[in-house]
Amino acid sequence: MKRTILRGRVLTFVSEPTSIDDTSSYRYFEDGAIEIVDGKVVSLGDYDAAAIGGAEVIDHRPHLILPGFIDMHLHYVQSQMIASYAGSLLEWLNTYTFVEEQKFSQQGHASAVSAAFYDELIRNGTTSAVAYCSSHPRSVDAYFAEAEKRNMLMVGGKVMMDRNAPEALCDTAKSGYNDTKLLIERWHGRGRGLYAISPRFAITSTPEQLEASRALVAEHPDCYVQTHLSENDAEITYSMELYPGSPDYTGIYEDYGLLGPKTLLGHCIHLNHRETAVLADTGSVAVFCPTSNLFLGSGLFDRERLLKHGVRIGIATDIGGGTSYSMLRTLDEGYKILQLRGQRLNPFASFYMATLGNARSLSLDGTIGAIQPGNAADLVVLNASATPAMALRMATVQTLAEELFLLQTLGDDRSISEVYVAGSAAKSTLGGLAA
Ligand code: GUN
Ligand code: ZN
Repeated sequence: MKRTILRGRVLTFVSEPTSIDDTSSYRYFEDGAIEIVDGKVVSLGDYDAAAIGGAEVIDHRPHLILPGFIDMHLHYVQSQMIASYAGSLLEWLNTYTFVEEQKFSQQGHASAVSAAFYDELIRNGTTSAVAYCSSHPRSVDAYFAEAEKRNMLMVGGKVMMDRNAPEALCDTAKSGYNDTKLLIERWHGRGRGLYAISPRFAITSTPEQLEASRALVAEHPDCYVQTHLSENDAEITYSMELYPGSPDYTGIYEDYGLLGPKTLLGHCIHLNHRETAVLADTGSVAVFCPTSNLFLGSGLFDRERLLKHGVRIGIATDIGGGTSYSMLRTLDEGYKILQLRGQRLNPFASFYMATLGNARSLSLDGTIGAIQPGNAADLVVLNASATPAMALRMATVQTLAEELFLLQTLGDDRSISEVYVAGSAAKSTLGGLAA
């Protein structure tokens, strides 16, 4: 039995911070010790030299150790078309995305991109994520095989899309259903892998495909469901033309039984009152994708309105509509969007969202997202002086809140000093240039 103790300044949340002064929402140890056995946290407390015994001690002082970041929505198959120049969502999808994703019919391509994608997650301190693969089952095999190799808790699924896309990318209602069933059998619950049933969005799924999705959800209630909702005005208009019988965009997914506590809905920007109420009633999760929403000019997420109505919220990069793999960059851009909404997001609430908040939105608290006995030792070590500009500012920082805000505002992959996946160092062990 290998026992490891990580020493450093440790921060972990126990509840959603209600204000910047809400010290009851987190536990903080100025000189903390995280004891890890067999990839799991067995204790957290003040460092005590007398309690070390034969354990290996890794000293990360003066850096901050937090739970590894969780990214609730991204597309691994868009890693090579991130930063593509487009006016808005539908142009971007048609011009770049649907072209790029066709390459994933080749296993070698899927494996190579998948490996590079995971390296990038680790470089940025993200230890769990929820991804869309392409419509090709082999893209899903490559995704979960790589997660298994790295012992990472990853959620994902084959995109189902049977219209309004190039022929080579389209499945059918029947093949999408059959392929998804096989993939769930193959990957859901294998290692740390979890499956997400993934109809892309209403525009690219026929009513028959959404009906097939309903059957999949009913047959596999322990799987997640992920799709896109209310990102862009033209998308909403077109969706309503395709589903004229539904009261609104959310109503389409509601009509096909796709909403519920395991349903993750990317974007949710332009929702009416009824839609917000339906999301709250069904326990569905609205996923805020700040860098993507700014990059594609989609709109400003209204966090306070959704919270006020009791909607569960997550936060995500949305690579490749999003422009950074970094959850620090994502929190920063999220902060700016909320500033434009007159909604000030305090730094504790930000870091809560990227850790315990997202774990709760995945119903995975108790497994990831917090440093507590029994949870996986998925951790990120943050250096708030990683660049000269950060070090200059850090010299005047006096509080933990200021340090977090500095990390979020100026930080990126350079601020990720180390990452642990199930107790094993993952960033310092990346090969070659990736480290
Ligand atoms: N809506 C449907 N597909 C996508 C996608 O790949 N990215 C984004 N941002 N929105 C979508
Ligand atoms: Zn997306």
